[in-house]
Amino acid sequence: MNTETQTETWNDRFGASLMRSLTPPKVMLERGQGCRVWDVDGKEYLDFLAGIAVNSLGHAHPVLVEAIADQAAKLVHVSNYFATPPQLELAERLKRITGAGDAGRVYFGNSGAEANEAAFKLARLNKGADGRKTRILALKQGFHGRTMGALALTGKPALQEDFLPMIPGVDHVDTTIEALEHAIDDTVAALILEPIKGEAGVVDLPDGFLAAARRLTEEHGALLILDEIQTGVGRTGSWFAFQHLGVVPDAITIAKGIAGGFPIGALVTFGRASELFSAGQHGSTFGGNPLGTRVANAVLGEIEDAGLVDAALVKGERIRAGIAAIASPLVEEIRGRGLLIGVGLHRPVAAAISAAALERGLIVNAPNEASLRIAPPLIVSDAEIDEFLSILAQSMAAVEGADQETSA
Ligand SMILES: Cc1ncc(COP(=O)(O)O)c(C=O)c1O
Repeated sequence: MNTETQTETWNDRFGASLMRSLTPPKVMLERGQGCRVWDVDGKEYLDFLAGIAVNSLGHAHPVLVEAIADQAAKLVHVSNYFATPPQLELAERLKRITGAGDAGRVYFGNSGAEANEAAFKLARLNKGADGRKTRILALKQGFHGRTMGALALTGKPALQEDFLPMIPGVDHVDTTIEALEHAIDDTVAALILEPIKGEAGVVDLPDGFLAAARRLTEEHGALLILDEIQTGVGRTGSWFAFQHLGVVPDAITIAKGIAGGFPIGALVTFGRASELFSAGQHGSTFGGNPLGTRVANAVLGEIEDAGLVDAALVKGERIRAGIAAIASPLVEEIRGRGLLIGVGLHRPVAAAISAAALERGLIVNAPNEASLRIAPPLIVSDAEIDEFLSILAQSMAAVEGADQETSA
């Protein structure tokens, strides 16, 4: 079939049938293998977005394929009236890799937003002896999802304004120790934040901020809840980002990369936070189903066996050094850790670079006008990183050239 006909056909069908809440995509993908995907016209792309930090093992990894097929043939869904072996195994595994240990507990949902909804309810349960704890603090520019609870936690007024009123009791603070000191008091039930703000363009917390957050939440009896949905599962070079930041939280939320693309989310509690929920207070029909939990066990097992957590740091360094070596005048700074990298740009040309890359067969994301986000599968090879750097350099050069022509 002729390329134009294919593209026109699916564009029209998408426009006619998908909810307008979605921005129409430019490409329709048909299959993937490793770090590569192919569109319906057969064009190949190197995938340095991994479904937004989701496809930890890349595409069609045999471990993932086998786990889905084998479990699908055994037991897909049973409801929360029954326990299943993969569900227990995953809960125990998460307690181990988070370090929550014996005092930890795990709740399973089906997405990041759902994990954060559970965290929101956890915060509401931390009422304090006199019931005064009614406030939750979150960070400006933080992102926690699109459902109403998760949206209330999200510090981006532009995403909220069409859906007011928000669930009350959430205050957003600037990401400075002073702002946090000023905002926190004994009426605060919880502080929720991302260890690296992913959707904001992979923005690191200031030095000492997380330690101060831990100290202040402890002083005021508030829970410290970390949204590790984008930073978790090995991507930043430790299982979870808090582990290299030297702070132990009261709870974390996990989703995205945990099952390599199969939808599942989790809330993991530490210590006293594990005692807050009681029977019947929360649940989800699909949450913790045997298929999703089996796939997550397989993916986490492979990440561990293949040493992909430590490798994420080394590969991340190769990418960072390579971007620095491109020496593009567009690049202002390189942020993030391991295989979650943000490139801050001097000018609002991120979308133009991303489009130029797409044309050249590279998927790299622009979460905002002045940032690129780089989040390849954890299995990415050195050769693929070098190919990525070469296409990125060409794409940046094309945009620099176009920029100069416009300003000339
Ligand atoms: C840090 C963070 N929290 C929550 C979410 C929401 O996850 P989901 O889209 O699975 O609901 C995202 C998604 O991008 C995220 O990056």
